[in-house]
Amino acid sequence: MNAPTQVLPVDPVHPDPAAIAMAAAALHAGQLVAFPTETVYGLGANALDVAAVARIFAAKERPASDPLIVHIADAGQVDEVAHEVPRLARELAARFWPGPLTLVLPRGPRIPPNVSAGRATVAVRVPRHPVALALLRAARLPVAAPSANRFARPSPTAAAHVLEDLAGRVEIVLDGGPTPIGVESTVVDLTGAEPRLLRPGGIPLEALQALAPGLAYAPRYLAPDADETPAAPGMLLKHYSPSAEVLLFVGPPAAARARMEQAVRERIAAGQRVGVLAPEEEAPAFARLGAAVESLGPRDELEAAASRLFGGLRALDAQGVAAILVRAPERAGLGLAIWDRLFRATEGRVIEVNGG
Ligand code: TXA
Ligand code: MG
Repeated sequence: MNAPTQVLPVDPVHPDPAAIAMAAAALHAGQLVAFPTETVYGLGANALDVAAVARIFAAKERPASDPLIVHIADAGQVDEVAHEVPRLARELAARFWPGPLTLVLPRGPRIPPNVSAGRATVAVRVPRHPVALALLRAARLPVAAPSANRFARPSPTAAAHVLEDLAGRVEIVLDGGPTPIGVESTVVDLTGAEPRLLRPGGIPLEALQALAPGLAYAPRYLAPDADETPAAPGMLLKHYSPSAEVLLFVGPPAAARARMEQAVRERIAAGQRVGVLAPEEEAPAFARLGAAVESLGPRDELEAAASRLFGGLRALDAQGVAAILVRAPERAGLGLAIWDRLFRATEGRVIEVNGG
């Protein structure tokens, strides 16, 4: 596939209707449009067009077994893409849509099977970014959109990241600036006996449990070469991966930080280029040791860390580091989503540090 990619800069709050109309026309013509959502950039196609949906998988080099999220403009359209919508879905939608929550529901007859990788279910969300909403309203179509990165690369939080991965593979990129949340939506499966959290994301688990007390989360990560077919898709390790090796330090902050400093010294002494993702208060100390450092923003501000996470991984990769060292956040609130993305990027290489 080799389409010239047209980048259309748009105001993130009041996008130019002419640019939105062009992008909507491209979707109707079976083309691909990348657009900002409040989480990350999506790579969109008309969800009702089998061939357009197939182009998403080709552009991303994504396995056909990994289903896509269908984006709609309004909760009222959920019955156009799903059927037998349970009451809990309506309640969660009323509370959290538009916003970073994806609901897995029984797939409606209009949605072609390749959107859902052949499953009888469909993942649906209403994004709240004004550019995404303007596009969905102008197109009057459900839009299938995974994150607009090549498969297993960090998700794109800026139009430049989309171009890094997909230039020449997408017809239009709506550039609405950086995406505010920076990690993907929370995915909840409502098709089983009990609701299940499949992917932690922009809406914290705790907020969902207030409405869905039975909501369970039992992460089961799979190695990329596992023969086992994932019971839930999207559980692969080696996802969100930069080219560098990622080392995740888990443990009490002071002890983990000391171990990281020791690891930086050893690797630099061995001639390696080393990258560190760290809170801004800790960045200067790592820089003095000779590491390339990207800031995650003020310590303990999980929103800042989430919004800088994927960009930080890409920036360190671009500097050619062999390893990226990072300390794990607490697994609560947005920290659960950050932990999940970092853990997958490590492909399981976690360094447990005991108290000190
Ligand atoms: O924030 C987001 O969700 C972004 C923006 C663009 O909306 N999209 C996104 O899409 O992250 P993607 O394709 O990168 O991730 C979709 C996740 C995957 O983990 C996929 O396996 C899961 O949702 N998923 C999609 N359809 C599903 C289904 N029918 N059943 C179970 N999981 C599903
Ligand atoms: Mg993705």
